Amino acid sequence: MTTIDVQNIETESVTKHGLPGFVFADDAVYEQEKEKVFAQGWASIGVGQQIEKPGDILPVRMAGVSLIAIRAKDGSIGVFHNVCRHKSAPLVDEPCNKRTLVCPYHKWSFKLDGELMGAPRFYGNENKPISTEDKADKGLIPVRFAVWWDIIFVNVSGDAQPFEEFIQPLDELLSEYPKEGLQRVSSTDYSGEVNWKLAVDNFLDGYHVPFVHSQACSIESALGQEDLFLSDDIVGLRLANGASNKPAKTAKQIPHWPGLAEEKMGTQQWFGIFPNTLFFVDPVWVQTIVVKPTGAAKTDETLSIYVTSEEAASDEYTAERARLSDVLNEVNEQDIELLDKLQHTRTSKVADQGHLVQAWDQVNMSFHQMWLRKMQSK
Ligand code: FES
Ligand SMILES: [Fe+2]
Repeated sequence: MTTIDVQNIETESVTKHGLPGFVFADDAVYEQEKEKVFAQGWASIGVGQQIEKPGDILPVRMAGVSLIAIRAKDGSIGVFHNVCRHKSAPLVDEPCNKRTLVCPYHKWSFKLDGELMGAPRFYGNENKPISTEDKADKGLIPVRFAVWWDIIFVNVSGDAQPFEEFIQPLDELLSEYPKEGLQRVSSTDYSGEVNWKLAVDNFLDGYHVPFVHSQACSIESALGQEDLFLSDDIVGLRLANGASNKPAKTAKQIPHWPGLAEEKMGTQQWFGIFPNTLFFVDPVWVQTIVVKPTGAAKTDETLSIYVTSEEAASDEYTAERARLSDVLNEVNEQDIELLDKLQHTRTSKVADQGHLVQAWDQVNMSFHQMWLRKMQSK
């Protein structure tokens, strides 16, 4: 039950304490988020290399919608509501590869481009195929989408600002990275009993890294972090000489981004793209976390890891890539374990008396402010 309305949350109090605890647990808040934060925004649902081959289909459920991303025959991507045009059964439950989508309920079938193909005995006793005219308004409902750095973003409402405009500040910041070379190493699914915003907040919290992930970063190294405020929707952090600049533990190292300037060879940068896209660019690897709320205190995540060139993806580095994947997944497991516990305390009344720290909490706090702006908009 909502005791305080989101409309009454004050910006100044968020600056000091972060968002009040109830917004991380309240069902009514989650209902509003479905529309104001997710449907109206540019939310990510997965990555292009999860649907590599023609016919690959990725179903995604989050924030009240059920979608499918499909790799068509010509290699292009399409995103549709995973909702049959007869009586709205879901067409696909699991990632799969298909030539056509057949509804499990009454076997209507759809092409990979969403067009209705057939509907058994559509005219009852009159045994003839469904006419072109009758098919015309029964194709799968397309969703507005964009692909950037292999991340598939959707705007379900259809009326968000153009994606190019939305991503422009970050696109510009990363313009010298040859992103075409990205080669996926792995995608791993997680789920946590936690509000999605705590997962985002945690990713933008550079303060915990040397403590929770002491294997990855020292406090001395974390002290060098720089806050990045790129737009009303994008914030991040930068470590000019990040953790991967440490001497290699093994003789062999996965190659850096080809052509990267010398001064960027140690730079790590990570970003929160509102609402649910977490994105990390290292000199050697890239990581994307798609955060998918399925309830006020339930969140799925998919973590995808990439190397940055064909050479880095070659057999020569198989063992190093496996190790990279293990290391990054270990970090994420440590976070999920913490988040599941945080859910109980951060949602309590006394959480509203927490004190954010000037030196460390400005980026995650600005994510809270972004959220508040969207939720309070008319
Ligand atoms: S609901 Fe899909 S065929 Fe009836
Ligand atoms: Fe973490």
